[in-house]
Amino acid sequence: MSAPTAPVNVVVTGAAGQIGYALLFRIASGQLLGPDTPVRLRLLEIPQGVKAAEGVALELEDCAFPLLSGIDITDDATTAFDGANVGLLVGARPRTKGMERGDLLEANGGIFAPQGRAINAGAADDIRILVVGNPANTNALIASAAAPDVPAERFTAMTRLDHNRALAQLAGKLSVPLTDIKKLTIWGNHSATQYPDLYNAEVNGKSAAEQVDEAWLRDEFIPRVAKRGAEIIEVRGASSAASAANAAIDHVYDWVNGTPEGDWVSAAIPSDGSYGVAEGIISSFPVTSVNGEWKIVEGLEVNEFSRERIDASVAELVEEREAVKALGLL
Ligand code: NAD
Ligand code: LMR
Repeated sequence: MSAPTAPVNVVVTGAAGQIGYALLFRIASGQLLGPDTPVRLRLLEIPQGVKAAEGVALELEDCAFPLLSGIDITDDATTAFDGANVGLLVGARPRTKGMERGDLLEANGGIFAPQGRAINAGAADDIRILVVGNPANTNALIASAAAPDVPAERFTAMTRLDHNRALAQLAGKLSVPLTDIKKLTIWGNHSATQYPDLYNAEVNGKSAAEQVDEAWLRDEFIPRVAKRGAEIIEVRGASSAASAANAAIDHVYDWVNGTPEGDWVSAAIPSDGSYGVAEGIISSFPVTSVNGEWKIVEGLEVNEFSRERIDASVAELVEEREAVKALGLL
């Protein structure tokens, strides 16, 4: 008989929020790390959110998940990240009326810099961080800068929801099963400047771009995917939650367990300068996961149409980095 596996400590920040509610039950049921890995949940909330997090913990208990070995609830980041193996950084300061981008970045700096310091101080050596809270790419950069002893590549931001949205839109347009689509990429920022790339994507082994007309690609597909978050807010009256939680599960599952042969996914990871993306920013790339590490898929052709759009999204990320630098957060 093999020895029982030690539980993996998974921190979820903003645990009492709507994404938290859609995420925690799936983590506890084994969908984040696989059916053989027990988890211990650490729920981090602000003091006003702790009672609601306690309520969610009661429900988690009532599910009697065999893989859930315990739940800790705290409003202290240092306690939450002590010994953490996986961190899902969901809680963030949303933009409110009259707030400028600089104000938003500053408010989030007040959340992600202390969390980065807590990760630096106490997280386990194999810590993997996924930032979901917006502006996700730059929040991940802030946290990483505050954690100089943790390898930068352990800090990632979520563009998997954009990736999944793009897959669904293309499958709908071509009336094909999702599984026929491979090698789709989201480049850049998780914002309206992101670029969903069909030029390198394949449907049944043939170029996706060649199977759709250019006007649809340019005027419908790209804006639909890039503005889907706003569409959900408009129609649902609240921002995406279950689909965001689903994408977070996909991201971490693939990071830990690897991506399938012959395909790739999208994730925002620190740029090494590949594809002319400014080094150091956390930008979305085509990636595979090999032995628990994200690797950028190299050697893809970037045509003029794609170049322009990737450059625009990267320019936005560079601007965000400059703004955060000016605030003394980097
Ligand atoms: P929500 O308002 O329902 O929940 C956020 C929770 O975070 C709240 O319970 C709040 O108390 C908590 N929180 C705030 N500051 C915190 C801190 N410092 N430490 C711990 N907890 C803190 O929001 P939501 O719908 O769950 O969304 C969360 C974030 O995810 C938002 O920033 C949203 O824009 C973002 N989001 C990102 C994507 C993506 O694809 N990257 C998709 C959807 C939503
Ligand atoms: C999304 O893509 O659904 C979210 O990032 C939207 C938002 O602003 O919270």
